[in-house]
Amino acid sequence: MLTTGPKGTNDILPGQVEKWHFLEKIIKEICREYGYAEIRTPIFEHTELFLRGVGDTTDVVEKEMYTFQDKGKRSLTLRPEMTASAVRAFVEHKLYAQPLPIKVYYEGPMFRYANVQAGRYRQFHQFGVEVFGSDDPVVDAEVISMAMDFYNRLGLRDLELHINSVGCPVCRPKHREELRKFLAGKLDRLCALCRSRYDRNPMRILDCKEEACRLVSEGAPTTLSCLCDDCREHFEKVKNYLDAIGIEYIIDDRLVRGLDYYTKTAFEIMAADIGAQSSIGGGGRYNGLIEQVGGPPTPGIGFALGLERILATMERQGIEIPVENRCDIYLAPLGEEAKLKSFRILDILRRSGLAAEIDNLNRSLKAQMKFANRLKAKYVVILGENELNRGIAAVRNMADGQQEEIALDELINYLKKID
Ligand code: HAM
Repeated sequence: MLTTGPKGTNDILPGQVEKWHFLEKIIKEICREYGYAEIRTPIFEHTELFLRGVGDTTDVVEKEMYTFQDKGKRSLTLRPEMTASAVRAFVEHKLYAQPLPIKVYYEGPMFRYANVQAGRYRQFHQFGVEVFGSDDPVVDAEVISMAMDFYNRLGLRDLELHINSVGCPVCRPKHREELRKFLAGKLDRLCALCRSRYDRNPMRILDCKEEACRLVSEGAPTTLSCLCDDCREHFEKVKNYLDAIGIEYIIDDRLVRGLDYYTKTAFEIMAADIGAQSSIGGGGRYNGLIEQVGGPPTPGIGFALGLERILATMERQGIEIPVENRCDIYLAPLGEEAKLKSFRILDILRRSGLAAEIDNLNRSLKAQMKFANRLKAKYVVILGENELNRGIAAVRNMADGQQEEIALDELINYLKKID
């Protein structure tokens, strides 16, 4: 127990964390270009927010929340996603009084008590964006294209973008009725969960992964077949805008997503080669959510992308992540006097922005060279008694093994100029 992390969590070790830094760099770049500002909200929220925001018939709320009581007997929940938190912050800080739309992005850990398997964790990380204040279908296309651009910048290939419209409070009751009519009489063939969904939220039956349920719901009325004029027109325009910028998509009329807040556009991105957990991102419009959480009626749309799954897909596709060199200069002193001198040089080098290291274990020169090699140091500065007496240091270029003697009073300037 003591030496094993909790199930479904991952340590990100040196050597791996550089990949995360790379993702974070691309996230910052793309968000700046698309005009999103970062938002940071607490890791935990009042449980009520997710019950109301995410929806109490969803798997996330019914089965997967990390909910606990604090010492003040408040029910709190580790965030299973960030849309509800971002909406809560938007309402709490009256951001709706500012010029709209408000565009925010986030990156951080989410928590779901899920059945752990490859690509499905209990603590995982999402990069997401939310746009508050516009119902224009061009925003739907913009948000979708931003997600696709992000994958593209990472070099990912063979992705499928699935889109659907799940309707709105005007057309959804009609769909619900038609679906219930279609399923009535077939209930005994559904799984227990879907039977309980029949009354509460029958649309989710369309999304069930159980083979029996899929067979039963084959040919069932889809949300697309029941859209009201407004939703239909909205969906047509989203498709037109996506076509206009050459974004390919698959219309997937069974895509209903696992969270209750969606209205109109819903989308998901799948990677072909990472196994069962193939959804590497998803999102959609949620025009009722802000009002539901207590704000003024305000439309919203966003996405969240799973960073662990993205990294796994990159690995599967053989995409190399550029890793920055951690050590420019390794100082290899021999003897106390040389160590003192090297320590001063180390201090100056670091203050001038170079990544420099010094021997910490009083190793032999041979062992120091081996260690410098391991650190991928570009240069090693060897300073022994002999060099000190001659007022020089030996500087070895680790790439070609060439060694030069540099006068000690020239050394700092010399090292600052190397690339
Ligand atoms: P979601 O589909 O629940 O949507 O999650 C988005 C992505 O997070 C998934 O596509 C997947 O890549 C990743 N993910 C979800 N659960 C896990 C898990 N247990 N382990 C690893 N990765 C996981 C949302 O969270 C919505 N908030 C998206 C959104 C934003 N909709 C509108 N705005």
